[in-house]
Amino acid sequence: MNLTDPSNTSDVLRAASSIVLPPLPYAENALEPVISAKTLSFHYGKHHKAYVDNLNKLISGTDYSDLSLEEIIKGTAGRAERAAIFNNAAQIWNHSFYWNSLSLKGGGEPPAALKHQIEASFGSVDAFKKEFAAAAISHFGSGWAWLILEDGKLKVVKTANAEDPLTTGKKPLLTIDVWEHAYYLDYQNRRPDYVNAALDKLINWEFALQNLG
Ligand code: FE2
Repeated sequence: MNLTDPSNTSDVLRAASSIVLPPLPYAENALEPVISAKTLSFHYGKHHKAYVDNLNKLISGTDYSDLSLEEIIKGTAGRAERAAIFNNAAQIWNHSFYWNSLSLKGGGEPPAALKHQIEASFGSVDAFKKEFAAAAISHFGSGWAWLILEDGKLKVVKTANAEDPLTTGKKPLLTIDVWEHAYYLDYQNRRPDYVNAALDKLINWEFALQNLG
């Protein structure tokens, strides 16, 4: 089992009867200079951890405490009375997926098998990167840009706040966090610089290929 794949972690976490913060798959300074250790320290150590702490408080003593993270997300999506549980659960999953979507060995050209899929869906790797960056940069407010697989085709989508493609049955391959906490310490209001640098230098094609299955 690959514990760096957040879709595989919940069964392990379930045995512990509470949700735990998955380890960051690299050192906090591993993504410098694109993303600083200071940003990762706050983003992982404060924000991601807070979602875990909040969720455990919210589900303690409820039926949700016996469920996996994915089951909690799918069981609370779209239910206004469960919004707090959904938001914290989905943000845990989204952040674990985001850490794995970046790599110190990332960027550059995708591996051939993924490249062919990207070319079939977007025309070229550059066209995909432009569409992905545009989705991330143009998203209004907090949220996420995703590369997903839907009906055998790769697509770029964006989601607001904690929403993720899991709840609509789509298969996420990569994501980038465009909440201000992801980039403000390093880039202030220059979201395009963060997005383009992450895409050029850090995007983890191998993780996308692994998710493609
Ligand atoms: Fe975030």
